Amino acid sequence: MTTLPERDDRKTTPAIQEGVVRWRSPSNIAIVKYWGKYGEQMPCNPSLSLTLSKAYTETQIRFGPRKEEVPAREFSFHGNPAPQFARRIESYLERLADVFPVINETDLHIDSENSFPHSAGIASSASAMSALALGIGEIAYKAESKFPDKAFMQRVSQLARLGSGSACRSVFGPAALWGEAPEIPESSQEYAIPVEIHSDFHRVCDTILIVDDAAKAVSSRAGHMLMEGHIFASARFAQARSNLKRLLPALRNGDFETFGRIAEDEALTLHAMMMTSKPAYVLIKPNTLAIIEEIRKLRQERKVPVCFTLDAGPNVHLLYPGSAKKVVEEWIGETLMPLCKNGLLIHDRVGTGPEKLE
Ligand code: DP6
Repeated sequence: MTTLPERDDRKTTPAIQEGVVRWRSPSNIAIVKYWGKYGEQMPCNPSLSLTLSKAYTETQIRFGPRKEEVPAREFSFHGNPAPQFARRIESYLERLADVFPVINETDLHIDSENSFPHSAGIASSASAMSALALGIGEIAYKAESKFPDKAFMQRVSQLARLGSGSACRSVFGPAALWGEAPEIPESSQEYAIPVEIHSDFHRVCDTILIVDDAAKAVSSRAGHMLMEGHIFASARFAQARSNLKRLLPALRNGDFETFGRIAEDEALTLHAMMMTSKPAYVLIKPNTLAIIEEIRKLRQERKVPVCFTLDAGPNVHLLYPGSAKKVVEEWIGETLMPLCKNGLLIHDRVGTGPEKLE
């Protein structure tokens, strides 16, 4: 199996025109987690996420034929020069130029903005890398006069994966599956595919409760690497496959209870893997656990359908059906807000995927 997107089959590099492209791409929240990879960004198990709507990155790329021998590369974040992201973006662009050689002939001025505050501690690589892949993909496809093409989104998902694994799932909404799963023959290790879900799940809310906004002590990249040779690795990858198998029918049937059980199992296992890595590390904080206790209490005592998931950090994603929004939001204000850092939380919900902006 090839792990690299094939180089486009062209004799000559097509001419590039001047122009601007703009994309808005959302973040996503994994229900079955991607944790552990091999080769060039290949996942050790299939993962499935819900695409968000309000947490997104908007990326504008001004481009034109290169004026100097070395193509110009400029990055800014919220209008300010962003040298801190330059290395990662430059090496990503070099990788994309292997696939689209026209990128080596093109000056690029990239400006990105996140809809969520930097201090929210939300991992932005999924939205940022998918927005960038969409923009670069559009420029390369336009150079060949084949934009938009039927396979464009799939190709972009493949390219986004090279920037950040979870980014490949942001290309599709409301739900996306990445990684081979026997239940879905068209699934692939190389790109995500959209997944059909019950209409109730299109209205699922995700309130992101900010417990701590500090930069993570251990990056996701390092965390993935610690799964290599992890004592529980094979059991974990088998668990993810079995959770996915149970999640797919739950999503199709609108079964929120099974969905919640799987989401929490996956979140706690993700952190259990960190706590049993060598070296071990802990990213959750006392208030992460305090929030989890309150969520369980609400569910048990008042029978309100709520569940949680966690990313590789201390913040809690509280998931609940759109039909429970009123009662849950009231309870969040009274019970959970005091447990959030500076009372910070973000009310998001499931979304439909990226948008091309004019
Ligand atoms: C815990 O996609 O951030 O959020 O591929 O190294 O960029 P890289 O990792 P990344 O890992 C995400 C891990 C996760 C689970 C998930 O989103 O599936």
